[in-house]
Amino acid sequence: MNFDLIFEKNKKWIAEKLEIDPSYFEKLSKGQKPEILYIGCSDSRVTAEDILGANPGEIFIHRNIANMVISIDLNVMSVINYAVRHLKVKHIVVCGHYECGGVRASLESVDLGLLNPWLRNIRDVYRLHYQELDAIEDNQKRFNRLVELNVQEQCMNLIKTAAVQEAYKERVLTVHGWVFDIYSGKIVDLKIDFPAILSEIMKIYKLI
Ligand code: CO
Repeated sequence: MNFDLIFEKNKKWIAEKLEIDPSYFEKLSKGQKPEILYIGCSDSRVTAEDILGANPGEIFIHRNIANMVISIDLNVMSVINYAVRHLKVKHIVVCGHYECGGVRASLESVDLGLLNPWLRNIRDVYRLHYQELDAIEDNQKRFNRLVELNVQEQCMNLIKTAAVQEAYKERVLTVHGWVFDIYSGKIVDLKIDFPAILSEIMKIYKLI
């Protein structure tokens, strides 16, 4: 990686933006009003703005290993709180991706030190869905399904937060579970049936 090239590319990007709109950065500096909070994986191949075709100012983004929403992670919880309570986003997207290294590692018997407690959350997803997952004979298919179920569980973790429950009562907020299909570049909407899943368990997690 040529670091000088990064600064060259930056200059080119500035010129391109100013050519379209001379006051581009002046407008950008005024503030943000994104309608979407995107929670995705840190994987370098899954570039949020790129795959969504989004411009600066359009999406509030949080990325971590395996797109996790963990209740004691101050980082993701701060992002969710700010996006929902202050920016008042209308949509929250959890976007996983096939061939996720974090999900793959959670399927292996390996001690990864500091990563163990993080990945244990994915192992817990496996435990919650082990009957379905163990019934899948093909290793690749089981891996892909765990990626999808992990997205589903992280969406559920969002709905367990007071910020999201409060927003649900006050206005329209939609949670979406997606997977980036790294084999084709397509975004796949998992069309998770939240009302059906939540009808059984919401009594446990209801805060408001
Ligand atoms: Co990943």
